[in-house]
Amino acid sequence: MKSSSGGGRRRRVVLVPYPFQGHLTPMLQLGSILHEKGFSITVAHTEFNSPKPSNYPNFNFLALSDNVDGHDTSFHNLLNVMSAMNTNCEPSFQEHMVRMLDDDDDDVACVIYDNIMKFVDVVAKRLHLPTILLRTTSAAFMHSHLALFRLAAQNSIPLPESELEVPVPNVPPLRFKDLPLRATEEIPEAVEEFLQSYMNIRSSSAVIWNTVESLDEWPLQQLQQHWPLPFFTIGPFHKMSPPLPTSLMEEDTICLSWLDKRAPNSVIYVSLGSMAIIGEEELHELAWGLAKSEQPFLWVVRPSLLNGSDAMGSLPEGFKNLVGERGLIVKWAPQKKVLAHSAVGGFLSHCGWNSTLESLCEGVPMVCRPCFADQLVNARYLTHVWRVGVGLEKSVESAVSTLMSSDCGREMRERAVGMKLEIESAMKLGGSSSDSLDQLVKFIVSL
Ligand code: UDX
Repeated sequence: MKSSSGGGRRRRVVLVPYPFQGHLTPMLQLGSILHEKGFSITVAHTEFNSPKPSNYPNFNFLALSDNVDGHDTSFHNLLNVMSAMNTNCEPSFQEHMVRMLDDDDDDVACVIYDNIMKFVDVVAKRLHLPTILLRTTSAAFMHSHLALFRLAAQNSIPLPESELEVPVPNVPPLRFKDLPLRATEEIPEAVEEFLQSYMNIRSSSAVIWNTVESLDEWPLQQLQQHWPLPFFTIGPFHKMSPPLPTSLMEEDTICLSWLDKRAPNSVIYVSLGSMAIIGEEELHELAWGLAKSEQPFLWVVRPSLLNGSDAMGSLPEGFKNLVGERGLIVKWAPQKKVLAHSAVGGFLSHCGWNSTLESLCEGVPMVCRPCFADQLVNARYLTHVWRVGVGLEKSVESAVSTLMSSDCGREMRERAVGMKLEIESAMKLGGSSSDSLDQLVKFIVSL
């Protein structure tokens, strides 16, 4: 690709990810997609959870001084961490960008940033640089915030517990219990402030979505009315980009040879992503549910999964002996490879957006155990729109058995395979994601 300035240089795109696994992964994948399209890529990253430059020889890296070392970075303290990052990263981002713009050899086309890193907008405006927002979640989740704001403005929340099952007006198929915040509680001021900022597109020229048009069509249309600027729907990123190592934790690849020895579609893969925290009671319920289901299972028990103590060491006594070779437990798995393995027939998941897309892309139906935020919306779509998921309503044992060995589970698997094909056609030449990517490239070049 030639630069618009005519010198034949590759135009540079600067990426600013939010440094947690579920956000960092899609940003790096986007970098790889754009690099394949001829752009030079610079990743301006925090020191906290920094990506390893040696894994990405095609990218340049700039470290931002976040000063969050020593902060509690667990889920319950995230608002404070975000605030500290936004304050602390701004000066070093500004310095890096000024240097880059002064360098005649560099031709910065735009900055693409995760909406949480809002300092980017401040610096970019000062330096007259165009910005594009990356949305790493589904459009349905974003759209659900509009409903939340409307309800809060009408003083309709908090509502009584008995109304949680009631459908939210004008936001099918969500019930009040599927909204990203508990509708029975007052929204704390700091959370409301964060959500308003999260939904603010600031001075962005466009929005890039890691979603597929056919999965998210109606919410995308609704949001397009709310945000009248170009949308580029170019997901699923992990399939649109060349394979890329993105894990912050070391992947235990032994599980792949363990899967090689299992029958097709026989294994239930269990993982609650990188952030969710559960209590010991639920850890034990999961363990005994998997034991009683009599299904082979691969379970990711990350060290930080359990609130306050080592999750692996807190598994119930006798559990490992009882399941023996039928179950394998790892601290972190090569998830995309696991889901693509023919032995995996189901995924018990927290329904994070990356996990949801990764499962849909492999035609793997899910048991949905959402923990917070977008996971509640994703779970509702999996169970009631795409109908490739079963909710974890009664017990782990019964949900796993329904998915893995009932007629209803077989139908879900067939629908999931249909969705996999639908996603594949969106990525092919002339498909929605492929076309949208071509338009995005033209758009960036035109900035
Ligand atoms: C967070 C939020 O929790 C999620 O709801 C939001 O959609 C994105 O940010 P996370 O909880 O980590 O992300 O979930 P998810 O979006 O599913 O991302 C997890 C990523 O880690 C996936 O790409 C998955 O492949 C990877 N992973 C997970 C592994 O590689 N190995 C594992 O063992 C578990």
